[in-house]
Amino acid sequence: MFTPFFLLFGIFVALATTHASPVEKRASRTTPPAGAVVVKNPAGSGQFSTIQAAINSLPNDSSSRTIFIFPGTYSEQVSITRTGPTTILGSTTDTTSYTSNSVTITHSLSAAAAGNDDSSGTLRVHKDNFAMYNVNVRNTFGIGSQALALSSYGTNIGYYGSAFFGYQDTVLANQGNQFFGVCYIEGAVDFIFGQHARAFFQRNVIASVAAGAITADGPTSATDASLFVINHSTITTSTAATTSLTGKVFLGRPWTQWAKVAFTSCNLGAHINGAGWEIWSTATPNTADVTFAEFANTGAGAAGTRASFSKKLSSNTGFTAADVLGSSWTSWVDQAYV
Ligand SMILES: *[C@@H]1O[C@H](CO)[C@@H](O)[C@H](O)[C@H]1NC(C)=O
Ligand SMILES: *[C@@H]1O[C@H](CO)[C@@H](O)[C@H](O)[C@H]1NC(C)=O
Repeated sequence: MFTPFFLLFGIFVALATTHASPVEKRASRTTPPAGAVVVKNPAGSGQFSTIQAAINSLPNDSSSRTIFIFPGTYSEQVSITRTGPTTILGSTTDTTSYTSNSVTITHSLSAAAAGNDDSSGTLRVHKDNFAMYNVNVRNTFGIGSQALALSSYGTNIGYYGSAFFGYQDTVLANQGNQFFGVCYIEGAVDFIFGQHARAFFQRNVIASVAAGAITADGPTSATDASLFVINHSTITTSTAATTSLTGKVFLGRPWTQWAKVAFTSCNLGAHINGAGWEIWSTATPNTADVTFAEFANTGAGAAGTRASFSKKLSSNTGFTAADVLGSSWTSWVDQAYV
C-alpha cells in the first residue's frame, strides 16, 4: 500500500487554511515531497532533465519510490518496468482534477512505425503497483495508425487527475486491475481498448475528436476476465473536434465476440448514436457473446433504440468497483478520486 500521505496532508492544510473563505478548496502540490527523485528542465543539482533518466536512476528492487516532475513539456517516450511500488507526481495547483496540470509528456509515434501498439506508447507501464497523478500524456501522431498515449500492463495501477490525448487507440489497458480516477481521455477510434485488463473509470471526461467507437474490448476467450466499466463520467465531444459529431460516436464496438463493457451513471452527449453500440465490421460483427451494458445513464445520447446485442440494466450488480477490481480495491485505489 502506498497511499501518498503528503497528498492527504496537503488537502488537510488546504482545508485548515481556507476555512474563512467560501471559495472552492484546492490542494496544491508544487514542491517535491521528501525523498522524491526530481525531474526539472533545465535540471538543477541532483535533478534529472528527463523523466526516463529519473526512472533509470531508481533501483530495480521492491522499495517504494516517488518521482516528482516540475512544470514543463517533456518530449520523450517513457517506459517503466521496475519491480517496487512507484508513484509519479506532476506539479499542480489543483490535485483534485487534471484541469490545472502543468506537466506534459509528448511524443509522436505510430504503431505502424513502432512495430506494434505497445511500442508506440508515449508512456509505457509494464509493472504492478504503480500510481500517477496530474500528468498529461500525448501521442501527437494523429490520423492514420494506432498511436498510443498510454500502454498499461500491470495490476494495482491507478491514474489520477491525468489526461491522455491521441486519435486512434489512445489508452491501452491490457493486463491486471487498473483504476482511472478523474482523468481526461481523448481520441476518435477505439480509444479505450485492451484484451485482458479489468479497468474501472470513475468521474472521467471522455471526449471524442472525430467519429468512431469509444471502447474496443477484445478478450481472447470466453473465460478471459477483461471488463471495462465507465462510471459517473461525462461522455462528450472534444473542443478539438473540427466537425459536428452529433450521432456519430458509439460507446463501443467488439474487438472480439467476448467484449465486456458497461457505462453506468454517465452523462452521454448528443454525439452518441441512438443505437449506442456498433458491430466490429460487416465481415466480422463479433456480437455473438458480447456484454454491452448501460445503467442509469442520462443526457441526449442515452436515448434511442439500442443495438439488439446490448442491454439496459436495472441495477449495477456485476459492474461496481468491487466487482471489477476485487474486494481489496479500496486498499490500493486512492479514495480521494472515487
Ligand atoms: C526489473 O526487474 C524486472 C523483474 O525481473 C524485469 O522484468 C524488468 O525488466 C527490470 N527493469 C529494469 C529497469 O531493470
Ligand atoms: C459510481 O460513481 C458514483 C459517484 O461517485 C458512486 O457513488 C458510485 O458508488 C459509483 N458506482 C460504482 C458502481 O462504483
